[in-house]
Amino acid sequence: MEKQLQGRIAFVTGGAQGIGQATALAFAREGAKVAIADLKDAGETIEAIRRLGGEGYGERLDVTEEGAVDAMVDGIVARWGRLDIGFNNAGIALEAVATAWGDLAIYDRLVATNQRAVLLCMTAELRHMTAQRSGAIVNTASIAGLSGVSGAGYSASKHAVVGLTRSAALRHAADGIRINCVCPGAIWTEMTQQAAQEPEAAELMAQMHPMRRFGQAEEVAEGVLFLASDRASFITGHPLAIDGGFLAG
Ligand SMILES: NC(=O)c1ccc[n+]([C@@H]2O[C@H](COP(=O)([O-])OP(=O)(O)OC[C@H]3O[C@@H](n4cnc5c(N)ncnc54)[C@H](O)[C@@H]3O)[C@@H](O)[C@H]2O)c1
Repeated sequence: MEKQLQGRIAFVTGGAQGIGQATALAFAREGAKVAIADLKDAGETIEAIRRLGGEGYGERLDVTEEGAVDAMVDGIVARWGRLDIGFNNAGIALEAVATAWGDLAIYDRLVATNQRAVLLCMTAELRHMTAQRSGAIVNTASIAGLSGVSGAGYSASKHAVVGLTRSAALRHAADGIRINCVCPGAIWTEMTQQAAQEPEAAELMAQMHPMRRFGQAEEVAEGVLFLASDRASFITGHPLAIDGGFLAG
């Protein structure tokens, strides 16, 4: 059977672990070459991509730095000739550990990483995609992007990701470029493991979902893969909930 992303070129941010890692592996499994940007070393992900018989490389960079993002995205196109997929996923959830409503320093960091960096990444990707007149972008929002769950900065930044996704999707709908986002519920990654160090906290987070459990990174990756693939060819501007029923409530 033909692989869904055979020959495609993908850029993934926050791919050293968690949802980004699972998605980078799903892309590679389906035939894409994958470039990963992360503050952390993405060696584990790259190794796993190679074990799948795929091709990929990682660069350590901060997605809040415009010049670094531009240089990496231009570098991907210089190396592989084009850019088909952008998965703008790197994010932080400081308030979960700091419970800091109204702390402006924390708010600013959340907005810089979760919101502003998504705009930076999309802008860098769209420069190439508009020239190609093709491409698919998926951003990582959250259930906190469609409901008031979580802290002020996290929720505001993720609502902004939904808004940026919709706005960019409208702007580029006639250019052959689709732009969507995923809205995961609580997914069992380092981010939630830090927030749920007490067993009761973990249980509470799981129970918030009608399915009464955490999601797995691979379950989000399947949604991202769908939105990035041609199977989603008439879908743009859509926030896809992957949340065990949370937003149905
Ligand atoms: N885990 C959840 O429950 C959950 C739910 C909804 C949305 N999300 C979102 O999913 C995304 C991925 O989260 P995860 O659960 O995989 O978390 P994670 O902490 O396991 O992974 C996040 C990755 O992003 C990287 N990163 C953070 N800031 C960065 C920066 N400035 N530059 C480059 N890389 C950076 C980290 O180094 C890490 O590798 C985030 O945007 C998060 O907000 C997570």
